[in-house]
Amino acid sequence: RLPMILDVDTGIDDTLALIYAAAHPDIDLAGVTCVAGNVPLDDVVHNTLGVLETAGRADVEVAAGAAGPVARPLETTPETHGPHGIGYAQVSPSTTVSDRHAVDLIVETARRRPGEVTLVTLGPLTNLAAAVLAEPRLPLLLRDVFIMGGTFFEAGNAAPRVEWNIHVDPEAAKIVFHRWSACAEEGAAPLTVMGLDVTETSRIDASGLADVARACGLPVAADDDVAIMSTAFGDPLLDLVRDSLRFYFEFHETADGFYGAHIHDPFVVGAALDPSLIHTRATVVDVQLGGAMTDGETVADWRGHLDKGVNARVAVAGDGAAFGERLRSLLADAASL
Ligand code: BDR
Ligand code: CA
Repeated sequence: RLPMILDVDTGIDDTLALIYAAAHPDIDLAGVTCVAGNVPLDDVVHNTLGVLETAGRADVEVAAGAAGPVARPLETTPETHGPHGIGYAQVSPSTTVSDRHAVDLIVETARRRPGEVTLVTLGPLTNLAAAVLAEPRLPLLLRDVFIMGGTFFEAGNAAPRVEWNIHVDPEAAKIVFHRWSACAEEGAAPLTVMGLDVTETSRIDASGLADVARACGLPVAADDDVAIMSTAFGDPLLDLVRDSLRFYFEFHETADGFYGAHIHDPFVVGAALDPSLIHTRATVVDVQLGGAMTDGETVADWRGHLDKGVNARVAVAGDGAAFGERLRSLLADAASL
């Protein structure tokens, strides 16, 4: 089983990523760290505890981290994820957050199991930046890091060339990319960076969720997308997913013209477990700071203009449809438990 730490800003697609990692038989979820991003930190922690408890994984340690970016005020996105981050869903966790800070969870786990742990970041890179400042050799202690962040060929979702997670805390992202470059010669595994170019190849929609419910023997409303998403299935986990996704579907319908959603964050967990889902290209990545159009742009040095150590494998293609099937089948397994 792959030892994994998830760093989340839960978040609707983070919710699906948490369920995927918590329920997957091949993932050993060693801890979850929370960072402010989609919503403020308190909401992220509350949602994360609630999602894990609903998924039957109240045993997983959840640690709170940064309440805001390294060098700028926190910007959140309630219009995308709902006022508290999980759309129309509500959770009331009975578990509590760890006494450890997120940075301590990451650093201590990596030191205890050198070369074993994969860290998957699904929000702004504030916690990871703080972790490398606390332990500069972290790139040499982790087995792998998979990042949902950036965009390299496709349009941004925060600005023309800027993806949301990097947009919220570009200074943190810069710290992270520079630290990995500095450790390249000593043999640090490059960061695997999955931007919108590949995460937007993955989608979930109402009929896909209805198939999951049917596979669990649950009743499904008439074959109308909005009815499917508005009618309880009668399973706590699937109804949490349905109520949170309904908000995300409405957002995507307005913003992108389809009643469904990209499943950015779970796809990154899926690729961390099975990298054959993506094709990557090794390069140097840096982050542009400043500029009305470019603040937070992720720049890949494809032709080697920058004289720096290779710090990233950038995903240039991905099989989002194959991952979508895996997510649906995992949800069906998790809900039937
Ligand atoms: C990323 O931004 C967040 O809103 C999502 O949770 C995802 O991590 C996509 O740009
Ligand atoms: Ca996220």
